Amino acid sequence: MIKPIKLSHNNFLSSLDLTTEESLHILELAKKFKNKELDIKYKDKVLGLVFDKSSTRTKVSLEVAMSRLGGYTVDLNPKTSQIGRGEPIKDTARVLSGYCDLIAIRTFNHTDLEEYAKWSTKPVINALTDLEHPCQALADFLTIKEEFNDFKNVVLAFIGDGNNVANSLLLCGALLGVEVRIACPKGYEPDKLLLKKARSICTNENLLKITNDPSEAASGSNVLYTDVWSSMGEENKKEEKDKAFKGFTIDRNLVSQANDDAIILHCLPAYRDKEITDEMIQSKKSRIFQQAENRLHSQQALLSCLLS
Ligand code: CP
Ligand code: NVA
Repeated sequence: MIKPIKLSHNNFLSSLDLTTEESLHILELAKKFKNKELDIKYKDKVLGLVFDKSSTRTKVSLEVAMSRLGGYTVDLNPKTSQIGRGEPIKDTARVLSGYCDLIAIRTFNHTDLEEYAKWSTKPVINALTDLEHPCQALADFLTIKEEFNDFKNVVLAFIGDGNNVANSLLLCGALLGVEVRIACPKGYEPDKLLLKKARSICTNENLLKITNDPSEAASGSNVLYTDVWSSMGEENKKEEKDKAFKGFTIDRNLVSQANDDAIILHCLPAYRDKEITDEMIQSKKSRIFQQAENRLHSQQALLSCLLS
């Protein structure tokens, strides 16, 4: 029977903190948790949640996942804790390590997350930074696996901003051997260093493509994925980005260029009629709400391994 395994890294800050085997193992565990074929308890274990940015899916799914594992969460709202007053991360991290068994952080700078991990004696989970959203990528590839059974010959086309979600898709896709194409306007490409890392893992250089042409990426793809054009913290760039991203909307026309079996994903929350039309969110090809549900199962699997 499949069981949670101890992971090679203590923290989950990046998709690359998992090996290919560990990523696949977590997806298998997630499937078992989803089908209620696995009942493992980590009684009274505590996950601390430090969210500097808003969240619906990540926060609630982590809370429910911990509760299903027999533990619970403590919400360390930065506004009402001393974090908001500017208490140094190195102090907060050491204090929280004394109370919690795991800590999930959602913040702006990835270096702040790394600072938490440096000082925490308990595993730290990236619940989204400006650089990466690795928990999201696990749910995304679980959804893709449910649809296509395995990752062989799957082509994922991400149409939009080369942001945190795109970065994690690139890295996790490289680990799993999925062809990932990113179509973004010039100047909005994914992080250069992460691209380099993803390329170094890919067994074949054709598995990773960056283009400025949405049609080129969508053509013959099996998964069409998008995310908001302006992420949290980029509110002042909205006007400029809305202009730059004209033509990058997932709409009926773009979807018709993908394979007949293509599915549509979005990490949510979405801005309808900007990065995706309401019609495509509601369409038969959309797996967006299954994908959102999978946040729970994939994180339950991840937490179970980090607690092992
Ligand atoms: N997709 C995602 O992370 O959603 P939340 O911002 O609601 O957590
Ligand atoms: N790229 C988005 C993802 C939200 C889940 C953001 O960072 O705001």
